[in-house]
Amino acid sequence: MPQAALNIAGPQGPFDSLMEITSRPDVVFVEGRGSWLRDAGGKEYLDFIQGWAVNCLGHCPDAITKAIAAQASELLNCSPSYYNAPMIRLANLIAQVSGLHRSFFTNSGAEAVEGAIKLARKWGQKNRGGAYEIITMEHGFHGRTLAAMAASGKPHWERLFEPKVPGFPKVPLNDLAAVEQAITPNTAAVMLEPIQGEAGVFVATDAFLRGLRALTAKHGILLILDEIQTGIGRTGKFFGFEHAGITPDIMVLAKGLGSGIPLGALVAHQDVCCFEHGDQGGTFNGNAFATAVGCAVMEEIGKLGFLQQVTQSGIYLTAHLEALSRKHGLGGVRGKGLLLALDLKHNIGPAVAAKAMEKGLLINAPRPDSLRFMPALNVTREEIDRMAGVLDEVLAAVG
Ligand SMILES: Cc1ncc(COP(=O)(O)O)c(C=O)c1O
Repeated sequence: MPQAALNIAGPQGPFDSLMEITSRPDVVFVEGRGSWLRDAGGKEYLDFIQGWAVNCLGHCPDAITKAIAAQASELLNCSPSYYNAPMIRLANLIAQVSGLHRSFFTNSGAEAVEGAIKLARKWGQKNRGGAYEIITMEHGFHGRTLAAMAASGKPHWERLFEPKVPGFPKVPLNDLAAVEQAITPNTAAVMLEPIQGEAGVFVATDAFLRGLRALTAKHGILLILDEIQTGIGRTGKFFGFEHAGITPDIMVLAKGLGSGIPLGALVAHQDVCCFEHGDQGGTFNGNAFATAVGCAVMEEIGKLGFLQQVTQSGIYLTAHLEALSRKHGLGGVRGKGLLLALDLKHNIGPAVAAKAMEKGLLINAPRPDSLRFMPALNVTREEIDRMAGVLDEVLAAVG
């Protein structure tokens, strides 16, 4: 479809009415199905970004479109001051698989993170003499609201939007001694991602997570896991923490939970749930439309064999990436399940991603020397083969 036929052109140019927040290619996507996207000119793209690990079931999966249609004709929203049926059902589904007891639904990951910070501060007020600090990890990423940015450890955010929300001392990932040293009477919690996704796919080791669980219990502080990228099956388990055999006190979800519909969750152990009326809320929170989609996602991921398939696909993709690495003299593969990165050894990531897009493959370079792969969890072997074939050509051309 030519872009003119879309009637999207603004007064100055097609994109000028949008606020400039990032550099985007001059392409308008109009249709998606499974692992494939189509632009307004009819070109097809194999999508290994999937909205940054959001569309866990691929584009427009039947289970989601049916849930949307059914819920849209029943009830969209009845105000967060009332219960609705999908909200209750989704909270029950999350409780069943997580071992945590209560959910508060949000519209984004950052909003869930803000909720976790508030809950930990409230808990510190009530149980630890006003403790409010949350120890977080260098290079961690927790979203783009002010407190979530302060909690993040992105080096180039250090001087942005001053003054910062205080109370987030940083330590290196996988350094248990550094965490212990950073704990003071002001500490309410430790927060981290089981795998640092935006930083370039760096895994918190199982030993570190187990050590953190023991350390936080010993000091009587909370463990918060940001499962926004790793949760909902992405690593081959429902939640990333399952690999380490631990359960946090609080976790936050988003991305895959809505599989393309804005939905997040703040999930906590019942002993930690200390919000009083008025402390937390929001107009759209827990609306029937979004939570009905969340239920459909949870049911798909929970189907017999689904998570095993994610693990198998991750192994298959890893083997392809390792073969490409050997052939082109690149570095190692990092990650778990279908959240993987390939170390390129040189700063060719943006050039590789741009060339891949020209050839109809969408991949992400979260840092100049790495590529990140976060396909749909139901990606097929044929699609993985196809991706590896295109990437092989691209690496030969760029490398
Ligand atoms: C680990 C993690 N936390 C938080 C967020 C923020 O989520 P959202 O963009 O939905 O606000 C992201 C988004 O990439 C993330 O990867």
